[in-house]
Amino acid sequence: MTTKNNRRKFMKTTGAAAASLYVAGTSKARAAAKKETLAINGGPKSVTIRGDTRWPRFGKAECDEVAKLIMSPSYAPIDVFEKAWKDHFKCAYAKAHCNGTSALGACMFALDLPVGSEILVPSYSTWFPLSPARLVGIVPKFVDIDPMTLNIDVEDCKRKLTSKTRAILPVHWWGLPCEMDHVCDFAKEKGLEVVEDASHAHGSVMKGVNIGNWGRMAGFSLQGSKPLPSIEGGIANFKNRLDYERATTFGFYGLPGKFPKDSPYRKYDKTAFGSKLRMHPASAIMARHRLAALDEQNAVINKMVRAINDKITQLPGLDEPTCRKDTQRVYYNSNMLILDKKKAGAERKAIIKALAAEGVSASIFGWKLLHTYPYFQEAKWWHHQPAAPGKLPGCDRANQTTIDLPLFRSDQPELAEQYVKAFEKVWANMDKLG
Ligand SMILES: Cc1ncc(COP(=O)(O)O)c(C=O)c1O
Repeated sequence: MTTKNNRRKFMKTTGAAAASLYVAGTSKARAAAKKETLAINGGPKSVTIRGDTRWPRFGKAECDEVAKLIMSPSYAPIDVFEKAWKDHFKCAYAKAHCNGTSALGACMFALDLPVGSEILVPSYSTWFPLSPARLVGIVPKFVDIDPMTLNIDVEDCKRKLTSKTRAILPVHWWGLPCEMDHVCDFAKEKGLEVVEDASHAHGSVMKGVNIGNWGRMAGFSLQGSKPLPSIEGGIANFKNRLDYERATTFGFYGLPGKFPKDSPYRKYDKTAFGSKLRMHPASAIMARHRLAALDEQNAVINKMVRAINDKITQLPGLDEPTCRKDTQRVYYNSNMLILDKKKAGAERKAIIKALAAEGVSASIFGWKLLHTYPYFQEAKWWHHQPAAPGKLPGCDRANQTTIDLPLFRSDQPELAEQYVKAFEKVWANMDKLG
């Protein structure tokens, strides 16, 4: 639905509150919204409804099935989950793991790169896949992000390429897909392997291809905060049989014997390669049930985000991360907004304070860049020390401009209206924020 249509529908359902007309841009409405007293100055709060942010949430069906498992233990739920996952996401091979770190670690092992190889990764990311990468001698090469998507900047990847670069690790930040067509074109041109960190993006799609199916491999976290939560768990996608077998031999001592007779990894049955990364079957049960509910749950969250963002992003200086038209994103953790304080007319801190007084759960968002941690600055942990990435203007800009709003996990149209009203009221009174 177009933004205009959304607005028309909203106006109908709300009785066209003065603040909503403000968004429509009439000077009369603006004047009305301006007359309202900000809550920070003693006026009434705009948001009076409590938002439903509970997460993770599980149903009775999985509770009952986990209870049965406890009375009659079995590993069978793991195979059932893997099959359901492969069917749902149409991926050739998948291996469930005890967490996302293990799944991504198995991918790093499966890459089979020479020790000292470099992997391009945004400094604006998590360290989780990089610790297991270190164990197989892969060294991060930190790159910048695009501050309007918070995702990897392919142009900076081109600048940071060295003779040691062998792979690229895009992370789909907060569920917004990286521009995987550009990433893959670049990787193909330079002969790099692509491993996706899809830990935030269960159900995101770009150009009709599921996130997690673009790269040679992908790892997903299923930890309790994620779009598909199993409290603790992970899973990796593989395009190729040999990658699947090598990755599986990393952490599953009993499985190589089940590989086809011609597998080069079959002989490692029993010992495997020393790790034990099996998913807990209770986690597999939870993951399977949440997978069945994933699309519906993502749609509810998306609907709430749209009900708020379609209106507030028309306010001067307020944006959301850019999502391409050929892309369907999901949301992880928060509804991230991007503020241009000059266009908005006040400092981020002052705006957050005024919004908070209105009852909006807004906060300044900042991400500590990976290359600033001691772990990445000390040569002794690495084959060779990860190079300081130099200036990362995209990361810096993101940290100066992002605002966090909660994700609402059930359909609460009145709450969305109150959020919109709060933003409009604050924007109409921006000159009072100092
Ligand atoms: C982007 C990203 N990658 C990987 C991981 C690691 O997943 P897990 O916590 O399941 O090991 C996380 C966890 O938060 C993450 O956010």
